[in-house]
This record gives sequence, structure tokens and C-alpha cells, in this order.
Amino acid sequence: MKNIVVIGAGTMGNGIAHTFAQSSFTVNLVDVKQENLDKALKTITTNLDRIIAKGNLTEEEKAQTLGNIKTFTDIKDAAPTADLIVEAATENLDLKLRIFAQMDELAPENCILATNTSSISITQIAAATKRPEKVIGMHFMNPVPIMKLVEIIKGYSTSKDTFDTIFEMSKKLGKVPVEVNDYPGFVANRILMPMINEAIETLYNGVAGVEEIDTVMKLGMAHPMGPLQLADFIGLDVCLAILNVMYDGFKNPKYAPNPLLVNMVMAGKKGVKSGEGFYDYSESKKAEKVSKMFLK
Ligand SMILES: NC(=O)c1ccc[n+]([C@@H]2O[C@H](COP(=O)([O-])OP(=O)(O)OC[C@H]3O[C@@H](n4cnc5c(N)ncnc54)[C@H](O)[C@@H]3O)[C@@H](O)[C@H]2O)c1
Repeated sequence: MKNIVVIGAGTMGNGIAHTFAQSSFTVNLVDVKQENLDKALKTITTNLDRIIAKGNLTEEEKAQTLGNIKTFTDIKDAAPTADLIVEAATENLDLKLRIFAQMDELAPENCILATNTSSISITQIAAATKRPEKVIGMHFMNPVPIMKLVEIIKGYSTSKDTFDTIFEMSKKLGKVPVEVNDYPGFVANRILMPMINEAIETLYNGVAGVEEIDTVMKLGMAHPMGPLQLADFIGLDVCLAILNVMYDGFKNPKYAPNPLLVNMVMAGKKGVKSGEGFYDYSESKKAEKVSKMFLK
């Protein structure tokens, strides 16, 4: 495997492209908006500079990494030579079904189609293609270049060959893969999202303020960041989408998203990416917060 296509250049797509490119894979990064591709390249460059500042990368390796990435606004131009496509577009079932049907048409026969979805059924996504045995979940964590975990999710029809290939490839990226079966939220979000939702409920009920809730969880439970700040980093729209998938999938009210989360997303307050969530991420403050997180 050499040629990787990453679909979606947002929070996760830029990190996935960065990680493959730094491990010497060639990456075709695709987004519907040129401005998102430009922003992704800027973010990757900034993050590579941070790694250099920590003494873990040379200028030459940075240039090689950036040289491994090409950008595209049309998947038709990016897919024909792909060995692996990792889809990291917006968390929306209809969109993912459309993208997978299109990837199935365009990608070479042997190409594996992976999705970075946080919660949507791999089995349902695979059913949109004529190669369900080659469809798998590859759930990276945010920020991708730093976080070691990748949940490798087997859909109902995923073959052992596909699973083994992706499991081994994740190790080559320096990650620690974990085998998971295909149920809503998989493992990571099934446990994380109810905690984030409960933190929002605690705020909504007026039990404590944003900083106070996060401080309790940081200092009391030794979490590296509080649940409300983590929600801002994940994206409040992404958190809402994941909770809705689990709520629909299990038909269990314990996963119902808190109304404050719903309101904030409707108001366009999506966290770091929109400049405001539970915290303020206006340009100067954003740079400071993100750099603190990376340097941890
Ligand atoms: N944010 C997180 O912490 C996190 C963690 C793990 C997994 N995920 C999952 O990763 C995926 C992406 O999430 P994100 O946070 O990066 O979202 P995001 O909103 O930051 O980025 C999504 C990107 O997809 C692009 N896009 C939309 N339709 C497209 C299409 N047809 N073709 C190409 N690009 C398209 C958008 O323009 C946008 O740039 C989702 O499935 C999400 O659930 C997110």
C-alpha cells in the first residue's frame, strides 16, 4: 500500500493526511471546498513546525511530508490510483452513503474503503458498495498526529484479509489499533459521549459553571482536559451527530442530546472550528489553547 486518498479536509482529515504523509505514504486530500484544503495545509504546516520545535522532526522531513500531499476538489481526479481511501467527511449518514457509492465506482477493484466515522454503522455504509468485504472502520482520535489509538471496526461483511491489512498498516503509522465490533458509537464514543452529554446537562441544570465542571474532571479524575473543552475540540456538531446516532441506534433515552447542545449547534457555536463553543476561541486565544494542547 502506497497511495492513500483522504476524503474531507476538516479537523480529522488534515490530521489523517498529515499522519500518512509523515509515514512516507503519498496522500491525495479531497474536499469540496478549496478554502478547506488551503486551511488544512496551513494547519499541517503549523503542526509539523510544532513537532520540529519539540526536536522530533527535521526541516527536511517536514518538506518531504508536505511533498507527499496533493489536494483535489474532485474525487474523480484523486481516486483512480488509490490503494486505500479513508473517508473523513462530515458525520452525516446520507452523505457517507453517497460518497461510498461514488468511491466504489471510481476506486481500483482492490482498493480498501475505510471510514473514520465516529458512530455510523460500518455495515450500513458497506452496503452502499459492491465490495462490502473491503469496507472497514478506521476511527482515528483527535488530534490524529498525537493520539495513539485507532479503533478498527469490523462491519458485518468485512473480510479477515481487510481487517488484518488495516490492523497491520495502523501499526506502521505508529498507532495502537484495537479490534472493535460494529455497534453504534463503537467503544470510544459509547463511553465518552454520555460523559460529555452529562457535563452539558450539569451546566444546563446550573450545578456549576463551565470552568468549574472542567476543573472538577481535570483535577478530580486526572483527565488531561475537561469534558466541555474536549467537546469544543471534537466539534459540538460532531458530538450532537454521534449522540443522535446512538439515540436512534439503541432507542434508549439515556443517549438523548441535551437541549443546550442542540441550541448551541443551531446557533452555529460548534467549538474550536467556529471560534466559539463553551469557551472563546477568537484568533489569539485559539492559537494559545491549541498550542498548549499540542505541547502537553
Ligand atoms: N472531530 C473529532 O474529534 C472526530 C474524532 C474522530 C472521528 N471523527 C469523525 O471524522 C469525520 C470528520 O469529522 P471532522 O470533525 O473532521 O468534521 P469537519 O466538519 O471538521 O470536516 C468535515 C469536512 O468534510 C468536508 N466534506 C463534506 N462533504 C464532502 C464531500 N462530499 N467530499 C469531500 N469532502 C467533504 C467538509 O467540507 C469539511 O471540510 C466524521 O465522520 C466524524 O464523526 C471526528
